[in-house]
Amino acid sequence: MVRLPIDRMATPAYVADVAAIKHNLSVAARIKQETGCTMLLATKAFAMPALFPMMAEVLDGTTASGLYEARLGHEHFGGEVHAYSPAFTAKDMDALAKICDHISFNSVAQLEAFGGRFAHAGLRVNPRLSLVRTNSIYDPSAANSRFGVEYDALTPEVLKRISYLHVHNLCENHSDASVALIEHMMRTLPHALDAVDYVNIGGGHYFTHPDYDIGALCHAVRHLQQTHGVRVIIESGAAHVYDAGYLVARVVDVVQRSDVAIAVLDVSATCHMPDVLEVPYRPHVIGDDEAHPHAYILAGNTCLTGDVIGTYHFAKQLKVGDAIIFTDMMQYSFVKNTTFNGMPLPDLAILDEAGDYHVVKSFGYEDFARKLCILP
Ligand SMILES: Cc1ncc(COP(=O)(O)O)c(C=O)c1O
Repeated sequence: MVRLPIDRMATPAYVADVAAIKHNLSVAARIKQETGCTMLLATKAFAMPALFPMMAEVLDGTTASGLYEARLGHEHFGGEVHAYSPAFTAKDMDALAKICDHISFNSVAQLEAFGGRFAHAGLRVNPRLSLVRTNSIYDPSAANSRFGVEYDALTPEVLKRISYLHVHNLCENHSDASVALIEHMMRTLPHALDAVDYVNIGGGHYFTHPDYDIGALCHAVRHLQQTHGVRVIIESGAAHVYDAGYLVARVVDVVQRSDVAIAVLDVSATCHMPDVLEVPYRPHVIGDDEAHPHAYILAGNTCLTGDVIGTYHFAKQLKVGDAIIFTDMMQYSFVKNTTFNGMPLPDLAILDEAGDYHVVKSFGYEDFARKLCILP
C-alpha cells in the first residue's frame, strides 16, 4: 500500500519509491553475482541524480545517448560511462573522449572517424530479429531501421578496430526474448563474438517484472561469456525502475458529456506521460476497478483533443482536488518531458525582414541538468 503524504504534497509530482527501486536493484545485483556481467543504468529511461548514489552501490555505471547524458552520468553517478548514439557529432568528440570508457558507433564511417580516441570502441550491429511485442516503433529490427550495421560490415579489418559488439534489440521483453537474442547472436555471429572482448546485449530485458525468468537470462549470459571468452554488458533502463514510482495528479474540473464524465487533471498525457499516447498503453491508477460504479475519462489539461489517459472506474464520485495516483511512472516519464535522450533543445531564433537571423534563446547542458537536479 502506498503511503504518499497526499494532503501535504503539491501536485503534480513524480515520486520515486526508494523501497521499490532497492528491490529492483537487488535483482540486478543477483544477475551480476550469478554471471559476472557489467550492469549499467541507461539514463535515457531514468535520470534522477538524487538517487544515483544508491544505484551506484550496485550498478557499474551509466550509458548515455549523447554528451549531455554522458556528462550527467560522469558528474553524478560515477563508475563507467558508456555512450551510443545513432550519429555522434564531431563537435562533441573532445568532451566525450575525456569521460567515456566505452563508445558504440552506429556506422563504420563514424568508427573510422572517431573510434581511435577511445579505449573501447564498439559497433552496434543489427541482428535483424524482431522480438519486440509492444509496438514496432520500439523494434530496432523493424524494416529500414537506422540502428546498427549489417553483418557484412563486420569484416576482419573492422573487427580488428573494435573491442566490443553492441546489440540493443529488445523492449519490455521477457526472458524468452533475452535468451533468443543471445542464442541468435551465437548462431549467426560466432566469428565476431570470438574477435571482441565485450558484448553489450543492450536494454529491454524486463528482468524485474514478476514473470521474468532471471535464471534463464543468467544461464544464457554465462553460456555466451564462456563460449566466446567475452564479458557481457547489460544496459537496462526500464527494468531498474519498473513499478517504482508514481505520478500524482489532482482533479481540476469535472465536465459532463452526454454519456460520460470527464475529469480534467493537472497532468497531461502528452507532456508528462508521453508513452501513454506513443506505445500506446493505459497506465494503472490506484483505486481503479471495473466493478466500481463511477466511470470517468481522465484527461490532460492541454488543448490537444487526444490528450486523454483512458477510462477509469472509482468507488466514489470524483470531485475537484481529489488525488489521482498513476503507478509505474519512473520509466520514460519525466526524462521525456522535454529533452529525451539528453537531446539538446533547438535554438529559438527570428529571421527578420532584412533577412538577418537572431538567436533569442539557446540551451545548453545546464538547462538539461537543471531540470533533473539542483546544480552546485
Ligand atoms: C541503445 C539502448 N540501450 C539501452 C536502452 C534501454 O532500454 P530499456 O529501458 O528498455 O531497458 C535503450 C532504449 O531505448 C537503447 O536504445
